[in-house]
Amino acid sequence: MTLSNDRELKALKRVGQLVAKTLESMQRYAEPGITTLELDQYGERLLAAAGAVSAPRKTYDFPGATCISINEEAAHGIPGPRKLAAGDMVNIDVSAELDGYYADTGGSFLIPPSDTLKEKLCEATLRARAAGIKAARAGEPINKVSRAIQRAAQMQGFKVVRNLSSHGVGAALHEEPTIRNYFDPRDTECLHAGQVITIEPFLSNCAHHVVELEDGWTLAGKPGSLFAQYEHTIVVTRGTPIIVTLPS
Ligand code: CO
Ligand code: CO
Repeated sequence: MTLSNDRELKALKRVGQLVAKTLESMQRYAEPGITTLELDQYGERLLAAAGAVSAPRKTYDFPGATCISINEEAAHGIPGPRKLAAGDMVNIDVSAELDGYYADTGGSFLIPPSDTLKEKLCEATLRARAAGIKAARAGEPINKVSRAIQRAAQMQGFKVVRNLSSHGVGAALHEEPTIRNYFDPRDTECLHAGQVITIEPFLSNCAHHVVELEDGWTLAGKPGSLFAQYEHTIVVTRGTPIIVTLPS
């Protein structure tokens, strides 16, 4: 969506804060031995207490309130009986609707003990997201954002997952435009002021693509592959974007 006034921005910031705080709380709650279902239900209670609803459940009938993906799973992992274990690389993606506005955030983290490759992958993905956000400016082509993300990933020795994208958001969970996390010269569309988008690179140590598992939801790579994702919802301006999913 494109915001047209301050009231809309305030409403977007409210849901942005909520998903940001929910993600932060869920990351703190995560520890070895708890199931991804317990973690999800904790997140769902936080959303419900604020009067919000899970966006993937409302939009796609996703079988969970949040998406929890582990190790070779990149995205859309279904919360269930799997227990978090030492050394797991966990991604939680939280998106919700509050008063008609949608915000979307996500982040990867490690269950100790950590490991150099996993830490590097997380740091590289955070840098790729920062590069994408920095490149997002009203009047500039979307593919500048794409190129900034891809360059950051490659400079740090990691691969961009090509079939997962950043996207428009705000009045629905997934809106136009699709913002590729790699450069495509055919994409000539430009960003405009007030536009609400996500920046969410998915980086991997080895995979350019993910495939859907038999459960019909989980997107994963080959056994042994690793993924990290960090996502913010931002509002495009003529200067520095407004990040609405930074926990205050
Ligand atoms: Co998300
Ligand atoms: Co998203």
